[in-house]
Amino acid sequence: MSQQFNVAVVGATGAVGEVMLSVLLERGFPIGELHVLASTRSAGGKVSFGNRQLVVQDLATFDPTGVDIALFSAGGSVSKEYAPKFAAAGAVVIDNSSAFRNDDDVPLVVSEVNPEQVRNRPRGIIANPNCSTMQMLTALAPIHREVGIERINVATYQSVSGTGRKALEELGRQTAALLNFQSPDPQVYPVQIAFNVIPHGGDFTDNGYTTEEMKLVWETRKILGDASIGVNATVVRVPVFYGHSEAVHIETRDKITAERARELLAQAPGIEVVDEQVAGGYPTAVTHASGSDPVYVGRIREDISHPRGLSLWVVADNIRKGAALNAVQLAELVIAER
Ligand code: A2P
Repeated sequence: MSQQFNVAVVGATGAVGEVMLSVLLERGFPIGELHVLASTRSAGGKVSFGNRQLVVQDLATFDPTGVDIALFSAGGSVSKEYAPKFAAAGAVVIDNSSAFRNDDDVPLVVSEVNPEQVRNRPRGIIANPNCSTMQMLTALAPIHREVGIERINVATYQSVSGTGRKALEELGRQTAALLNFQSPDPQVYPVQIAFNVIPHGGDFTDNGYTTEEMKLVWETRKILGDASIGVNATVVRVPVFYGHSEAVHIETRDKITAERARELLAQAPGIEVVDEQVAGGYPTAVTHASGSDPVYVGRIREDISHPRGLSLWVVADNIRKGAALNAVQLAELVIAER
């Protein structure tokens, strides 16, 4: 019989945890025992795994002994407290929070970009990048390898699912309220998100950027292993349920034509090029990304304002490739070592 692995999903009742379970199932991950964990609030409840109903266990009282792979998506403070305990008990932790991403002894890995780094995990923890970085670098890595990227200017159009289940509910609730001429009553976001666009993700930092913007800066450098790359990001939240879009403008060391970029991206793993210069000939969050695995790239064009500039439009399901799918792909890389 082929080898099986005991898996724990921490945050199994959340927006990402739920999709981690479906991705594990879809990809036929060789699971022995499967533990679904969340807070005391939801312990004893059930989550679906195919046609099975699994009982949610309380993370606070769970004994991680015997777990081979733990997928964490329950927020940074939960990861900080529990991921080291799971790792100490022998599990390889794949953590979707930002708790360890900046640590030198924790690799930060996009499965198509720097898969070899999963082996470099002295603490038994591998960090899953931020969703916006994940899709951007899946698209940019093939270009970086060919001509070198010196600078990235990116504006994101991020869906509310990236903020979690309460944000999905808020967009639905506000949309219904406003259509009925009622007050939107913002709770998750600082201002109304329905029918609006908010240029703010995370917290403001001293340099005027937000934490979500700065993640794009240093995560890019760490994953590409190049501290010289300049990144200028504007993170924007839009009233879309699933799928992040990004307008990405790059300046490369050597010139690359739009045609060559299209050719490279068409051959690259995890990418689908949708780039017809006609109405609807480009990917969008709703028509392409939502519920699907690839990172879609379109609107590829040479920048008329810069001799070595290239512009692209990059769209992906932030919960799948941006979180759950990449986490499971990292788990696949780990078990392939054994
Ligand atoms: P719970 O449903 O019990 O609150 P989302 O990002 O969609 O809001 O999901 C967050 C996930 O993290 C949920 O599964 C949530 O479980 C879980 N979570 C939050 N806080 C804790 C905690 N202290 N211990 C374990 N799981 C937690």
